[in-house]
Amino acid sequence: MKILVTGSAGMLGSTLCPILTQRGQEVIATDFAQIHDGIHLDVTDYTQVDEIVGKTRPDIVMHLAAETDVDKCEREPDHAFLMNTIGTQNVAYVCQKRNVTMAYISTTGVFYGDKFEPYTEFDPPNPINVYGRSKLEVKRSFKVFSNGTTSLGRLDVWRWPNKGQKIHWQNNKTNE
Ligand SMILES: NC(=O)c1ccc[n+]([C@@H]2O[C@H](COP(=O)([O-])OP(=O)(O)OC[C@H]3O[C@@H](n4cnc5c(N)ncnc54)[C@H](OP(=O)(O)O)[C@@H]3O)[C@@H](O)[C@H]2O)c1
Repeated sequence: MKILVTGSAGMLGSTLCPILTQRGQEVIATDFAQIHDGIHLDVTDYTQVDEIVGKTRPDIVMHLAAETDVDKCEREPDHAFLMNTIGTQNVAYVCQKRNVTMAYISTTGVFYGDKFEPYTEFDPPNPINVYGRSKLEVKRSFKVFSNGTTSLGRLDVWRWPNKGQKIHWQNNKTNE
């Protein structure tokens, strides 16, 4: 399987790409930053996304590129919405046009955070900050792009400063 990864130099991408390669997948690593053995791709540039997906013809695009600096999102909301909403819409539109499966990681930040029990996908979103709102807008636009098939995965990501990173896939389920 050929998998194009956006934001591959980030926390999740830099851990996931070697795992995918070890498991025999063909990985096309892309990021905004210049990366070794990878392709420069700015997801806010629709033409670039279309060209690179068209040229490399992946089976799946794992869209990990994002502005995850919550404080920067508060200070620069236009930048947050450009990256997290418009950038993701660009990837979604190209994938839809080229019939490529797209995987996208949302965030618990779409919820307010005041529920005592764990949130479920049926809880109404109510983001507390710009980061959460910029990710929630994507979910709304997916209703326009989606062909009716949606995969839900639950991913726990822990960041341990100075102790490396640990990623743990908890479970997966597919609905409709
Ligand atoms: N980490 C978590 O705990 C967590 C939890 C829930 C959801 N998520 C979601 O999982 C995904 C990956 O998160 P992450 O922690 O790996 O984020 P990350 O470490 O911030 O990585 C994001 C990557 O995207 C790159 N990027 C920035 N602007 C770009 C652009 N215009 N075009 C292409 N790439 C660009 C970043 O480059 P620069 O570093 O140079 O900006 C960085 O390499 C995101 O959608 C995030 O919202 C993460």
